Amino acid sequence: MDETVRDVGAGFATPASNPAASNVGVGAPVAWHGSNGPDQGTGSNGVLGDHAGNGASAAGDGAGGATVDGSGGGPSSLAVGIDVGGTGVKAAVVDLATGTLVSPRIREKTPVPSSPEAIADTIAHIIERIEASGRDTQGLPSGAGLPGVVKEGWLRTAANIDKSWLATRAEDVLERHLSRHVLIINDADAAGLAEMRYGAGVGRKGVVLMLTIGTGIGSALFVDGRLVPNTELGHLEFHRRDAETLVSGAARERRKLGWKAWAREFDKYLDRVYRYLSPDLIILGGGVSKETKQYMQYLTPRGPLEVARLLNAAGIVGAALAAAEAQGYRPPESAGVREIVAAG
Ligand code: BGC
Repeated sequence: MDETVRDVGAGFATPASNPAASNVGVGAPVAWHGSNGPDQGTGSNGVLGDHAGNGASAAGDGAGGATVDGSGGGPSSLAVGIDVGGTGVKAAVVDLATGTLVSPRIREKTPVPSSPEAIADTIAHIIERIEASGRDTQGLPSGAGLPGVVKEGWLRTAANIDKSWLATRAEDVLERHLSRHVLIINDADAAGLAEMRYGAGVGRKGVVLMLTIGTGIGSALFVDGRLVPNTELGHLEFHRRDAETLVSGAARERRKLGWKAWAREFDKYLDRVYRYLSPDLIILGGGVSKETKQYMQYLTPRGPLEVARLLNAAGIVGAALAAAEAQGYRPPESAGVREIVAAG
């Protein structure tokens, strides 16, 4: 199901859910504050460590896309976001001032095998389709979320993507096939950046953990709004197994578990995570965040828990944001309030 994102006008705001009333914030994922909270990463695109920040000079990479739009006019906040998942590759042009998609969100099936070349070709095709829709992407910063540990343009682990990614520098392959620089970032880290900037994490200090539950389980850890990259909490040992092989969305289907049975196990996994990290907030995202009605009532979180607000767009928006910030882009203090509308 595709989704579009609709501006509901700055000034209108849905109160942040009140974790004191209940630990579970299951409010409909419709509206959220813009980026009017504390600065989340001035000077280093909100990332702790060496990842995704290697191009963080205000001068950018020469394309000038972070500060000058394709028409050579005024400042632009547009960037291309790409989300490489286990079943689908999705991309769109994002307006980072608002966190909204300003092109169609195009999705194609993840190729099998999901080798770097095959994925790069799929992305090239998706970008052609975005351009055919009338949205120019030339010169825009581009970022791609990939399901693995990302260091200096390399994918260093590959649990849910073809292992051949480990043998070649991912950013080089993408640049060769797409004739543009594409910053890579862990997919969950990307989704987390988007939620912190435009969604359930806006203004949230302390330790915030985003978990994405889909083909695997991804994690993005924030300390006072700054990302600690590549946390990989989906691979915690759980019942002597790799947790995501038991409680990811794909594992639920593979194991033919109903929502209740799955939720009971997932609840134990969550409990483990609360014990290890004592997070001030956990944000649940990924494919299963669309199905909260099916399982939220079975969760017994020992701390505040909220559902991601950006739904399918989080990975795209976050990858675009990371790419633009690596080139020096800084979003305005207040991004207003936006509404995501699930269409079709
Ligand atoms: C990968 C993570 C990724 C997660 C969600 C896991 O298998 O190791 O890097 O974030 O899946 O895609």
